[in-house]
Amino acid sequence: MSDKRKILVTGGTGFIGSHTVVELIGKGYDVIIADDLSNSRLEVVDAIREVSKGILPLFIRIDLCDRNATLELFQHHKPDAVIHFAAKKLVGESVSNPLLYSRNNIGSLLNVIEGAMSIGCHDLVFSSSCTVYGQPDVLPVNEFAPLKKAESPYGNTKKIAEDILTDTV
Ligand SMILES: NC(=O)c1ccc[n+]([C@@H]2O[C@H](COP(=O)([O-])OP(=O)(O)OC[C@H]3O[C@@H](n4cnc5c(N)ncnc54)[C@H](O)[C@@H]3O)[C@@H](O)[C@H]2O)c1
Repeated sequence: MSDKRKILVTGGTGFIGSHTVVELIGKGYDVIIADDLSNSRLEVVDAIREVSKGILPLFIRIDLCDRNATLELFQHHKPDAVIHFAAKKLVGESVSNPLLYSRNNIGSLLNVIEGAMSIGCHDLVFSSSCTVYGQPDVLPVNEFAPLKKAESPYGNTKKIAEDILTDTV
């Protein structure tokens, strides 16, 4: 059995997630990718291996809005920490289909939090967005800036997600 810390990267075949996975592998972590491939491709896993000295991360195709499957993933793999990137991110699409964004971005977050809590995993990094600061009063904006009313349903899912995380942990 490996004694390396195991990191679950949701959205790990996506743009930011895949680069994060490469960095984590380079630092010696065991990486599990959970992604439904709704906005990325399976070939990314091979590309990660190519630039990671042949080390292949475990890839699990899963829709994190599926509560039972997500809880099962946590029970089975017991990650030590989670980096949650999985989300829909197109501002325009969120305006035309706000429910899709609420369902996907909030639903998946709830399941990931529940899964992590079910195994006593308290290390969760959430990929939010600068949209939660709206039009900031001062630039450059940092994490101490006050949250403002979101300017899109996408931004609002990130703001609501931050509230849920604050309430939960
Ligand atoms: N790209 C940016 O400039 C930027 C800026 C700020 C915040 N973010 C946030 O960072 C995160 C990653 O962004 P990105 O640019 O890499 O996006 P991306 O679309 O490239 O990656 C997101 C990944 O999540 C997956 N996904 C979406 N819904 C899923 C679900 N229900 N179950 C499983 N997988 C799902 C997609 O297939 C995709 O691979 C997102 O949460 C995004 O909101 C991105």
